[in-house]
Amino acid sequence: MIVLVGFMGAGKTTVGRILARRLGVPFRDSDVVIEQRAGRPIRQIFAEEGEPAFRDLEHKVIADLLDGTDSVLALGGGAVQRADTRDLLKDVPVAYLRISYAEAMRRVGGDQGRPMLVRPDVAQLHAERDLVYAEAATVTVDAGTSPPEAIARDILTLL
Ligand code: S3P
Repeated sequence: MIVLVGFMGAGKTTVGRILARRLGVPFRDSDVVIEQRAGRPIRQIFAEEGEPAFRDLEHKVIADLLDGTDSVLALGGGAVQRADTRDLLKDVPVAYLRISYAEAMRRVGGDQGRPMLVRPDVAQLHAERDLVYAEAATVTVDAGTSPPEAIARDILTLL
């Protein structure tokens, strides 16, 4: 099991797919499973039920995915916000794909499908989470400049 964390736009899905192929295990994405379970897109869950309800669902989905078959698992950018969700990651190899705020905005800025991106305090969110991701992670890799293949290779070398 390898878990990928990082801010929106860090490339968790792209790098995760490469890692999964190399390791011969399935790729899983907590956001995709959340949408399947809720039967609605994330944007709609936020709009109808609010962030706390989304985080509850996210916590349950991550707990189930970590309990399931071996995989490379990409987590939504806010999955490390809650201490009880971070606790789930204690004994698992976690890679933090680090990108700057400017790079994140360049890649995904304004994406209406990502409700946390359109908040006024998104820069502060990035700064706060940087510390939390680093603390939750076993390894931190620079995901801002290298191609995804090189990032995947770095992770496999470091873990
Ligand atoms: C979120 C990031 C999203 C998704 C949801 C909330 C966040 O995932 O889980 O919109 O709080 O940063 P990505 O990081 O895959 O965009």
